[in-house]
Amino acid sequence: MVGMDVNAACSVRDKVVIVTGGGTGIGKVYSERLAQAGARVVLADIADDAAQAVARSIRGSGGQALAFPTDVTDPQAVQVMVEGAIAAWGRIDALINNASLMSVLPRGEWFRIPLEEWDRVMEVNLKGMFICCRAVYPHMKAQGGGRIVNISSSRIWAGNPNRLHYTTSKAGVIGLTRALAREVGDDGIGVNAITPGFTESETQMATSSSNYVAGRARDRCFKRPQFPDDLVGAVFFLISDASAFITGQTLNVDGGQAMH
Ligand SMILES: NC(=O)c1ccc[n+]([C@@H]2O[C@H](COP(=O)([O-])OP(=O)(O)OC[C@H]3O[C@@H](n4cnc5c(N)ncnc54)[C@H](O)[C@@H]3O)[C@@H](O)[C@H]2O)c1
Repeated sequence: MVGMDVNAACSVRDKVVIVTGGGTGIGKVYSERLAQAGARVVLADIADDAAQAVARSIRGSGGQALAFPTDVTDPQAVQVMVEGAIAAWGRIDALINNASLMSVLPRGEWFRIPLEEWDRVMEVNLKGMFICCRAVYPHMKAQGGGRIVNISSSRIWAGNPNRLHYTTSKAGVIGLTRALAREVGDDGIGVNAITPGFTESETQMATSSSNYVAGRARDRCFKRPQFPDDLVGAVFFLISDASAFITGQTLNVDGGQAMH
């Protein structure tokens, strides 16, 4: 691209970015880093106390953040959150679909998963993503474009066992990403996915045995733990203008465990 301003293209400054599940874990780190880089961050988490605390802390450090109590499976709550973002900042540049049922799920044999738990995982991890995409769509369309980043999991490449419902839902995220990218390409909206490897978020660590954690880095090219900050660059890239011609793709971030 002749005459491209590389610094501007890579910047997230002033972008209005919704982070679902932004109150804890990796989503909290996305929110903090985005705010540090000058983005205006909307935290949408069912754990509203946590999200409000993150937003307050960002504002206390001179950043811009708002939190709205949001269950992503509740279309009305999602609508209120999106309208709140529009009322505050007038546009939505990016949606990071990060909320999910993951760390709260027990690991175990697939045939013991209760049907209600299976349904709730699909509801949050897939239907919730659909509801959030649908809610931002009219605004992104009206403003001539936007970026959607869907958080999947590197589990889908190897087919990791022990959370069959979770792995299945995260594979569904890739189908949603690809088909939605085709649906909204003419509106200038880019839709991509990230597949993180096992990441030592506070929530993941609180629910994983030290034995399980110790084995995670073994098959990586980079044999060290993966931290939330290892995912930040991929998110920044996919919401910035630097990735403007990339859509329908999946970026694997796992230290080179899976090769995609
Ligand atoms: N940590 C890992 O090892 C890892 C690996 C691969 C993918 N991921 C994915 O990365 C994302 C973040 O992971 P994490 O480790 O922070 O997980 P997590 O389980 O700690 O965080 C999920 C967040 O989503 C929120 N949430 C749950 N249900 C919600 C709902 N109905 N509405 C709104 N918010 C809801 C939670 O409150 C929490 O803040 C998730 O999508 C997860 O599946 C994580």
